[in-house]
Amino acid sequence: MQPFVDFDNVSLRYGGEENGLLALSDINLKVKEGEFIAIVGPSGCGKSTFLKATTGLWPVTSGSITVNQEKVRGPVNCVGMAFQNPTLLPWRNTINNVLLPLEVVQPQRSMWGRKRQDYIQSAKDLLEMVNLTGSEEKFPWQLSGGMQQRVSICRSLIHEPKLLMLDEPFGALDMFTREDLWVALQDIWLKKRPTIILVTHDIREAVYLADRVIIMAARPGRIVAEEVIPFERPRPLSLTFDSEFGKIFSSIREKITEVSV
Ligand SMILES: Nc1ncnc2c1ncn2[C@@H]1O[C@H](COP(=O)(O)OP(=O)(O)OP(=O)(O)O)[C@@H](O)[C@H]1O
Ligand SMILES: [Mg+2]
Repeated sequence: MQPFVDFDNVSLRYGGEENGLLALSDINLKVKEGEFIAIVGPSGCGKSTFLKATTGLWPVTSGSITVNQEKVRGPVNCVGMAFQNPTLLPWRNTINNVLLPLEVVQPQRSMWGRKRQDYIQSAKDLLEMVNLTGSEEKFPWQLSGGMQQRVSICRSLIHEPKLLMLDEPFGALDMFTREDLWVALQDIWLKKRPTIILVTHDIREAVYLADRVIIMAARPGRIVAEEVIPFERPRPLSLTFDSEFGKIFSSIREKITEVSV
């Protein structure tokens, strides 16, 4: 089967050819359809750049990227994205923030008039999955940071993207909220099976959620190792205290420390 995301010898240099910064160097990576990948690595190693390249928001300098059998040449539209800061629109309530992509992205945009009620139901279903039933009419400034982040994850999923790109989506949250959202994300992934690429600083999060953890290093930004995570799903949170989990955690941590010095 062809990979869903295929990086073939990709390099990306910001700035001029000579003295620009090599943010990605010779990246080769294949991600299967429905796979859950996490990318970890020190600050500045090119994780966000990797996401920008995959979604076509920044052109590569050499090599090629294929997403869903098509070479990436500009913005890819089968993608949903969520970032560390929720970036909700303050003048829209929760449900209308979640619905936003359907008003903007094709093919849903042209069906907006006819399918509005179905879309609203899908938004409510997603909000229920992240425990936000009852907050549909609230505005972002009436929600806590964790609640806003949940809304933003629902928004990234509403158009049923085949590929979900998450750039440290839980970074700003307290540990308990973060763990709740890991469980919610795992549920969503098990139900809808999008391909997910999650960038995170949190090794526990990466090992708990992913099928495979990719470890990157900086200067130049490159992949140095990968770790396959063997645990069955659904994974209980208590797994993170398991000794096998601890071994994988330590091995990844060591590899990151090696490349951080
Ligand atoms: N638009 C840009 N123009 C020039 N250089 C950039 C640009 N965006 C990022 N860089 C540089 O590219 C390198 C990789 O940046 P990137 O944002 O991908 O790192 P990161 O791994 O996501 O870091 P962090 O963990 O801090 O978010 C950094 O040295 C950064 O300064
Ligand atoms: Mg980043």
